[in-house]
Amino acid sequence: MAPRGKMIADFWTVCTTVLCLLLCIRTVVTDEENSEYWRQVGRYALRRAITVARHQNKNLARNIVLFIGDGMGISTVTAARIRAGQMNNRSGEENLLFFERFPHTGLMKTYNVDAQVPDSGGAGTAIMTGVKANTGVIGCDARVSKGNCSAYNEDSKLRTILHAFTDKGLSTGIVSNSRVTHATPASAYAHTPNRGWEGDVDLLSSGPECRGVDDIAKQLVMNNADIKVILGGGRRYFLDNTTADPETGEIDPYQRRDGLNLIQEWEKDKENRGATHSYVWNKTQFDQLDLDNTDYLLGLFSPSHMDIFDEETANNETELSLADMTEAALKVLEKDNRGYFLMVEGARIDWGHHVNSAYTAIHETIAMDEAVERAFLRTSRRDTLILVTADHSHAFSIQGYAPRGHDILGVTAPDSNSVPLDGLPYTTLGYTNGPFSGRHDVTGVETDSPDYRQPGCVPLGVETHAGEDVAAYAVGPMAHLLHGTQEQNYLYHIMEYAACVGYSERYCSNSYTHDRHG
Ligand SMILES: *[C@@H]1O[C@H](CO)[C@@H](O)[C@H](O)[C@H]1NC(C)=O
Ligand SMILES: *[C@@H]1O[C@H](CO)[C@@H](O)[C@H](O)[C@H]1NC(C)=O
Ligand SMILES: *[C@@H]1O[C@H](CO)[C@@H](O)[C@H](O)[C@H]1NC(C)=O
Ligand SMILES: *[C@@H]1O[C@H](CO)[C@@H](O)[C@H](O)[C@H]1NC(C)=O
Ligand SMILES: *[C@@H]1O[C@H](CO)[C@@H](O)[C@H](O)[C@H]1NC(C)=O
Ligand SMILES: [Zn+2]
Repeated sequence: MAPRGKMIADFWTVCTTVLCLLLCIRTVVTDEENSEYWRQVGRYALRRAITVARHQNKNLARNIVLFIGDGMGISTVTAARIRAGQMNNRSGEENLLFFERFPHTGLMKTYNVDAQVPDSGGAGTAIMTGVKANTGVIGCDARVSKGNCSAYNEDSKLRTILHAFTDKGLSTGIVSNSRVTHATPASAYAHTPNRGWEGDVDLLSSGPECRGVDDIAKQLVMNNADIKVILGGGRRYFLDNTTADPETGEIDPYQRRDGLNLIQEWEKDKENRGATHSYVWNKTQFDQLDLDNTDYLLGLFSPSHMDIFDEETANNETELSLADMTEAALKVLEKDNRGYFLMVEGARIDWGHHVNSAYTAIHETIAMDEAVERAFLRTSRRDTLILVTADHSHAFSIQGYAPRGHDILGVTAPDSNSVPLDGLPYTTLGYTNGPFSGRHDVTGVETDSPDYRQPGCVPLGVETHAGEDVAAYAVGPMAHLLHGTQEQNYLYHIMEYAACVGYSERYCSNSYTHDRHG
């Protein structure tokens, strides 16, 4: 690995040089009321765009790190950047999250083959396999509809970008703060007509035509034994139902009934390979890992999903952040200098939104941004493509005419521009639906507390996804191929081509300026 100083230089040298020139030529204006300030901001952005266009990185992407913010629609990104800025005592609107500074972006159309508004299964499948799928389905083409096993066969199963890497003998990993068998991480490795079939218990009520379908946890351990790093939650789907969970001391009703202990199966397989390996289930063990001498790492930190991680309130003794897991995964994977693919999911953005908790969605977005920064600092722009995107958006918006710098989690007071017909104040952030729906008087309510729920309009038990485009952000080799408005499955094709794996191996290998052994 190149020294850290060099890596950062790779990306920022040109930009800082331009900034230096500006500084030397004229004093930098910081007053937004001075028109010169905006001209300088605009010219700086222009110079950067010209430089980026001139220096396209056409290297081979030896490594790819893909971040998926589950449910991280554009309004979520905007609200998170304002919140992050305000936590640093700034106005907020002018701020950018770390990944928003990446030089290349594009918009992704997220609909599923059979749905206007997607779910994480169909959307994750599009990103991971390059083929759009039906809602609720993972790793199968659109002949398979949710829960219908009749078209589920070798022909309808799709290879993923992770498989394209393992097929070439390269290293791979998955990190999520949801269950590692949940829809988004599963879309990196599994094939199933129903995202809900995470463990064998979930398949008990399915029909006889589904007998040949393995649950997602079993597929992860038995069919994807080459994956080097698996970190997240979901222990209950791996333990047989005679083994008590180590943390709770109890047997969860979702534990396996087929007698398999998939954690032991995983350990047996690594022993047979003669590989160094560690299984951990808590932070104490995680902190003690010798990652330089670990070939395979399995961390299952909760019976179900991992806890929401809030930097301000986290119990640092027991809770793991997405950034810590991402860094550990990279430490294991980067030992393979032929290359690796790592998928990281910020799962709990989606969960915050589903319960009308803008605070959670925003803070989980900031937590994923920290994981992106950690990955950026550990890798080189020369050989590592970092992609950040969302699978779908949420029915979430930033409304009203709050003045500049107003607390993004606060209340928009009625003013002459927007007088509510009922005279009541309203929160800047809101939902078009969800469990906390209806008109609430927020006078005197602490709307920026972690427990507050922003109101929706249509009362629904669970707030819904939304169907507008999501953004994708990229830096590193072939990042410039990310542009325009695309079908979401395009992201797979960028990754496959940049890394010269899978189908694109037929035509990509000669065009790159440094090879896999470079
Ligand atoms: C933000 O400002 C407040 C009040 O001016 C101050 O107490 C606090 O330390 C500041 N925080 C940061 C991160 O600068
Ligand atoms: C299941 O899928 C098959 C093949 O696509 C289709 O013919 C059949 O009607 C579907 N069954 C149901 C219950 O939707
Ligand atoms: C464990 O699984 C077996 C086999 O399906 C079942 O008979 C038994 O009731 C289960 N035990 C518990 C505690 O769920
Ligand atoms: C973590 O796991 C180890 C090994 O099983 C155990 O000894 C330790 O008590 C656990 N720590 C916590 C905080 O649960
Ligand atoms: C946990 O660590 C973070 C970052 O180091 C710190 O900001 C926070 O205050 C700590 N939280 C607790 C409860 O110790
Ligand atoms: Zn969701």
